[in-house]
Amino acid sequence: MIKLKHVYKIFFPNTANEVLALNDMNIEINPGDFVTIIGSNGAGKSTFLKVISGIETVDEGTIEVAGQNVTGDPEYKRAKYIGRIDQDPMASTASEMTIEENLAMAYMRGKRRGLHQGINAERKQMFQEALADTGLGLEKRLQVPVRTLSGGQRQALALVMATIAEPKLLLLDEHTAALDPKAAKQVMDMTHKIVAVKKLTALMITHNMEQAIQFGNRLIMMHRGRIILDIGQEEKARLTVSQLIEQFTAASGTAFADRVLLS
Ligand SMILES: Nc1ncnc2c1ncn2[C@@H]1O[C@H](COP(=O)(O)OP(=O)(O)OP(=O)(O)O)[C@@H](O)[C@H]1O
Ligand SMILES: [Mg+2]
Repeated sequence: MIKLKHVYKIFFPNTANEVLALNDMNIEINPGDFVTIIGSNGAGKSTFLKVISGIETVDEGTIEVAGQNVTGDPEYKRAKYIGRIDQDPMASTASEMTIEENLAMAYMRGKRRGLHQGINAERKQMFQEALADTGLGLEKRLQVPVRTLSGGQRQALALVMATIAEPKLLLLDEHTAALDPKAAKQVMDMTHKIVAVKKLTALMITHNMEQAIQFGNRLIMMHRGRIILDIGQEEKARLTVSQLIEQFTAASGTAFADRVLLS
């Protein structure tokens, strides 16, 4: 489904501030995989997802999606088959637009027609059904501006938006990190359900080790622009948080000294 071959991403090249954000990244992800991604701050996790979605270009290497080389494709082209959510609830939805307008915009993403054609009776019903699945009552509030929603409701809406256009791939960058524990659990349960029902291939960055172990069928750990651990379904099922920290320390040669330990 996704293949990265020898991918490098360098910020501020040839300057004193040069950062090797991706340092020879190689990975192959199968269709239907739900991969959780952990790693210390600055490990390159967000950059990894950004080069897949086309928000960042690569300096070297190739990216293939479903057998196609998409390395040179701009973000808007890839948006046709990629849904994504950011950590910040403000970033994935438009505050001043209504729930319905946000969904119409998401639905039209990657399609040629304009926004005015995005809302009709049939679509309205589709939006309502998709929102009803969240169990938050948002389907009765299609006309309210998104700024009136809570962070959890916004991320739930963001999840519906990211998946309404039937993407092949879902990219989640700490999408529950800014939420309180109850809202985070609701959004995570929804994520789990949508990925399963729509049979999506999903990549989810998290700082919560328990979440990384609990969800998905594969866990990767990044460190200094590389994958240092790649744990499959069977091993992951038996894994504990303390074992994971031990494995990180052994693989990276450093202690886990950031907010991962706090979650
Ligand atoms: N747009 C950018 N310009 C310059 N440097 C960047 C940019 N984006 C990321 N970096 C740098 O690249 C490195 C990897 O960043 P990235 O955001 O991918 O890390 P991360 O693993 O997502 O970290 P975090 O857990 O803190 O979100 C960091 O050193 C970061 O400062
Ligand atoms: Mg990040």
